[in-house]
Amino acid sequence: MNRRKVEVTEVAGIITKALQNGGVYLNSRDGEKINSMVIGWGHVGRIWNRPCFMAYVRACRYTRELLDRNPEFTVSVPVNGQMKRAFQICGTKSGRDMDKFAEAGLTAVPAEVVSVPAIREFPLTLECRVMYRQEQAAEDLPEDIRTQFYSDETEDHVVYYGQIVAAYMLED
Ligand SMILES: Cc1cc2nc3c(=O)[nH]c(=O)nc-3n(C[C@H](O)[C@H](O)[C@H](O)COP(=O)(O)O)c2cc1C
Repeated sequence: MNRRKVEVTEVAGIITKALQNGGVYLNSRDGEKINSMVIGWGHVGRIWNRPCFMAYVRACRYTRELLDRNPEFTVSVPVNGQMKRAFQICGTKSGRDMDKFAEAGLTAVPAEVVSVPAIREFPLTLECRVMYRQEQAAEDLPEDIRTQFYSDETEDHVVYYGQIVAAYMLED
């Protein structure tokens, strides 16, 4: 499998659109356990003079546990359209209860730099190392947002600032 390098600035718009149109896949790993979840909130940007992907993961997610054990992740972007089954499983089921890669029919491909795999079926890939994590304080949010998005503290978001250490398109 070939990895065709891409410039983060060139693909940032594609990733932003994918986040809005169904979501991208945030992949994590602890030891032999790999997991993937759909995310709709996130952004490509720049901080501390480094290219960055910021992901917003609710405290209750299994992904949050894995990221806290192994602070690396990959982002897989479905540039050729969503796979219905993968979207349904990775967007609603918890990796605590199943092997989501197997259930969803996704193929894990070794990443270039980080320990977390990429996904063959969703070829546009960012590899990230967490530089910083920040627990949002829902009580500091405007009331309309707080009541719309948070009912208790397990729903609070943890923001992961991932330094983008590789960006490429997987090709046969
Ligand atoms: C379109 C879509 C976007 C989502 N965006 C997010 C998100 O940005 N952050 C989040 O914590 N959960 C988000 N979710 C929910 C998770 O994907 C879902 O709860 C998943 O089952 C968590 O898996 P895990 O427990 O294995 O980590 C989204 C779900 C869908 C369908």
